[in-house]
Amino acid sequence: LSILVLHGPNLNLLGQREPGIYGSLSLADINRLLAEEASNLSVKAFFVQSNHEGVLVDTIHSALPQHQGILINAGAYTHTSVALRDAIAGVNLPTVEVHLSNIYRREEFRHHSYIAPVAIGQISGFGAQSYLLGLRALVHHLRQQEP
Ligand code: DQA
Repeated sequence: LSILVLHGPNLNLLGQREPGIYGSLSLADINRLLAEEASNLSVKAFFVQSNHEGVLVDTIHSALPQHQGILINAGAYTHTSVALRDAIAGVNLPTVEVHLSNIYRREEFRHHSYIAPVAIGQISGFGAQSYLLGLRALVHHLRQQEP
């Protein structure tokens, strides 16, 4: 199995960006933890970060046929992007949505996700662990589906 890990806008600043909310790990640290977890689960993981909505859409389109699932932290596009949601629905790849912070205990505008209705599920509020839990849940889901 091969998983596409997508990080949206501003996540390249992790570590220095509002560490009280997002923690002190950098994106490279999180990707390293994910790569370790992927190897424990015997799956491959590929990492893409972009601050550009269109690049994220293109990356989702090109996920097929190489990848079997998507793990995504869409950042602020979670709350704004019909295009990302339609891209995920369009490729029809099992997708898990993750957030470092608990988006439901923050500002009202973060409470709505355009991604959630096209995702298998969402994990929010556990910092870097959200990604690791999300990867485990996605791989578990994909393995249940296998013949
Ligand atoms: C985030 C939450 C979003 O509301 C915010 O815009 C982000 C990060 C998170 O991981 O907690 O950029 O997706």
